[in-house]
Amino acid sequence: MIRCIAFAHHKGGTGKTTSCLNIAGFLQQAGKKVLVVDSDPQANATSGLGVGPGSYQKSIYDLFMGRVDDFPQVGLKEVVVQTDSGIDLLPSSLDLVGAEPFLYSVEERATILRDILAKEATDYDLVLIDTPPSMGQLVINGMVAADHVVVTLDSGFFALGGVATMKAIFGDIQEHIGVKIRAEMALITSRSPPEERPKGFLSWMKRRFAQEHDEENRDPVEAEAARTFLRVEKIPFSREVPEAQKHGLPISHYAPECQAAAAYREIAAFVGEWD
Ligand SMILES: Nc1ncnc2c1ncn2[C@@H]1O[C@H](COP(=O)(O)OP(=O)(O)O)[C@@H](O)[C@H]1O
Ligand SMILES: [Mg+2]
Repeated sequence: MIRCIAFAHHKGGTGKTTSCLNIAGFLQQAGKKVLVVDSDPQANATSGLGVGPGSYQKSIYDLFMGRVDDFPQVGLKEVVVQTDSGIDLLPSSLDLVGAEPFLYSVEERATILRDILAKEATDYDLVLIDTPPSMGQLVINGMVAADHVVVTLDSGFFALGGVATMKAIFGDIQEHIGVKIRAEMALITSRSPPEERPKGFLSWMKRRFAQEHDEENRDPVEAEAARTFLRVEKIPFSREVPEAQKHGLPISHYAPECQAAAAYREIAAFVGEWD
């Protein structure tokens, strides 16, 4: 039984790719056979696993296009590459931007990725899908293919609105595609060291929100997320996180002792037990 987990949020920079790769790293270290699916044309998960442009011939673009009339069908195994971390990768490339309009001509367009993974990814214990920061067919395919969706939030004040938008998207998917999204977990990432976070207006808004909700000591984003998700975890800032990505390795394989690694290690242990 493979389990698929998608990382989603319609906004960029909330920690989707980082969470996907670092959780994948700890799962791999725990002895699981892991496939990372990069469904973002920006291909950050691809480069974050050390796979550079030009080092692979085919990408997820070819898999999606294989479902469009008159395009050659391609098998998953023809596209997957092995990475230095021991994680297998379905790489992405900028071409993927061009695939999206074609997908509208495919009748079962929301379930393309789900069908491919169900038939051809059976060797894996876990498939982790990194989705792009948008609301199109690629994200829908990622979420529909997943048994669980992890929503990533940044810690800024505007993250509050993101929770409501994600809930609306899940509702639309259920209504129009008939798939119920299981989004039990939210991850809140700090992308800057504590001393660099904005003060003034932002902290005033936070205090007001906390007073209104009688949650004096709780971060407002965390409080809002806790109303929607069964589990909310915070990922601390660690300068090693972007460094690891530059070196093409998950944090588990690059700096396992840093603070962010400790958080991801615990989350991976939990995620590894999901049914
Ligand atoms: N815990 C962290 N500590 C430091 N930097 C982080 C952390 N999490 C994410 N980042 C950095 O924040 C940026 C955005 O994260 P990313 O995962 O690429 O977001 P998304 O995939 O949602 O667009 C990246 O440069 C990443 O290295
Ligand atoms: Mg990303």
